Amino acid sequence: MESCNSFKYKVLFVCLGNICRSPAAQGAFQAIVDKNNAADRFYVDSAGTYGGHRGQLPDSRMRKAALARDYVLTHRSRPVEVTDFLDFDLVVAMDDSNYADLMHLAPSVEATRKIVKMADYLSSSEMTYIPDPYYSGADGFELVLDLLEDACANLYASFE
Ligand code: 4NP
Repeated sequence: MESCNSFKYKVLFVCLGNICRSPAAQGAFQAIVDKNNAADRFYVDSAGTYGGHRGQLPDSRMRKAALARDYVLTHRSRPVEVTDFLDFDLVVAMDDSNYADLMHLAPSVEATRKIVKMADYLSSSEMTYIPDPYYSGADGFELVLDLLEDACANLYASFE
């Protein structure tokens, strides 16, 4: 991670492949940050618990669905690393499996306290995780973006 100590808040979104949900969360959250003229206060990134898509752009289906909402996703997939727990203030898991993997990877009790679930920021308690859209149709990607926009707005508000 490049020097980013000047940022007040550092947020890392994490899913499995870092090609669908977490880069979309990163894009949606960064858009809210930018809209609030807070780009100098927030460092936003994303990563995957599985490194098999390392270096790849987000899935083309997610890039297309996100672009229709004005999110240009240019992140390159990377695996989450132990040092992320030192570098970031908040590590946001998309589902329970991501959460469990992160809890295992966390190097200290203090680090585990940085891990939260994205669904805990949803306005409604109907969904308890952000569903993996990889094997779904276009509607799955729209659902993920709807959920992420809602959770990102509440997550951003939690910093104020
Ligand atoms: P993501 O979606 O975790 O939201 O990036 C997936 C991407 C790739 C795979 C599964 C989920 N995969 O099995 O390769």
